Amino acid sequence: MKALILSGGKGTRLRPITHTSAKQLVPVANRPILFYGLDAVRAAGIEEVGIVVGDTHREIRAAVGDGSSFGLRVEYIRQEQPLGLAHAVKVSHGFLRDSPFVMYLGDNLIPDGITDLVHEFEKGECDAQILLAHVPNPSAFGVAQLDARGRVLRLDEKPRKPKSDLALVGVYMFDSTVFEAVNAIEPSGRGELEITDAIQYLIDHGRRVRSHVIHGWWKDTGKLEDMLEANRIVLTSLERRVEGSVDAESQIEGQVVLEKGARVEASVLRGPLIVGSGAVIRASYVGPFTSIAADCVIEHSEIEHSIVLESSQIVGIGARIESSLVGRNVRIWRGEARPKAYKFMVGDSSEIHLS
Ligand code: DAU
Repeated sequence: MKALILSGGKGTRLRPITHTSAKQLVPVANRPILFYGLDAVRAAGIEEVGIVVGDTHREIRAAVGDGSSFGLRVEYIRQEQPLGLAHAVKVSHGFLRDSPFVMYLGDNLIPDGITDLVHEFEKGECDAQILLAHVPNPSAFGVAQLDARGRVLRLDEKPRKPKSDLALVGVYMFDSTVFEAVNAIEPSGRGELEITDAIQYLIDHGRRVRSHVIHGWWKDTGKLEDMLEANRIVLTSLERRVEGSVDAESQIEGQVVLEKGARVEASVLRGPLIVGSGAVIRASYVGPFTSIAADCVIEHSEIEHSIVLESSQIVGIGARIESSLVGRNVRIWRGEARPKAYKFMVGDSSEIHLS
């Protein structure tokens, strides 16, 4: 069994962060979202992984390398344009050959992993296996319609009028019959070769497509709220580990991970939260569900339920910052100069909310 991890595409809903960085590398609890997918694949006993990459291929390669740090052998497959999930399968034929494989969308997070599902597929009793989950907003996903016995009848990609609340989760298992399907289908109305159409082709041609409804938590992390929720869930599962330095004036409460080399001075940290190495928290409050990456400075400020990427500085912000995603090398600070005015240098497609 091989794995195909999709890390191409454009992260339009996470701009401006994704103007300069791949969406699969936005961190959750200070680790790129993609790394959780690689861990899940390895935990399922798979060692050979193809990562489909697009414009952001350099960064993804720099982050994952040859895969050995995950116990994997990783090859990169260049997709010149994000022409759809089925297109990504098509361009990966040389890597996959005749092997059955699991396709994992690099921006999905499934904390329960995929081990049991991979083992079930390995029994060879079906040609494709899909995962489904009940969601409140099915129009944002591929949607499945099942018959009374739970067999898949129809799949529709982001339908305006969904026929059920069962969304396709971003993990699919296929044997080599999928190549017949991806070669037969035509681009959809939005110009993409849809994996939902390829699976529909398999169903219509009498192939055995099995579905599993998962009940654990999962997330497609395309949007800010989803990133924050994923961050919350992963932080909740971390064990307290305080390896950085904490002065006598500070209080550390609950599940706090303070990496080696991080410094906390005259501050209150209330977990679950993580602070990366080299970060300094001074005269501040860092509240639950917050990830502060390496080399950040938080000084005379309050922040919670947020993600701050490497080397950013938040200084003198007395009003609490919450539900925020702050990119790399950002400075947010309050000065004393008159007139009292807001001054911004903000990238394209940024959002600033003052209240
Ligand atoms: O997350 C589950 C959903 O994922 C499913 O319910 C949908 O049926 C499925 O189409 C997909 O929808 P998204 O709109 O979330 O797909 P997105 O464009 O975000 O792409 C998913 C991942 O695949 C992402 O890591 C980027 C990568 N990708 C995407 C395209 C279109 C590629 O590598 N190549 C591509 O051509």
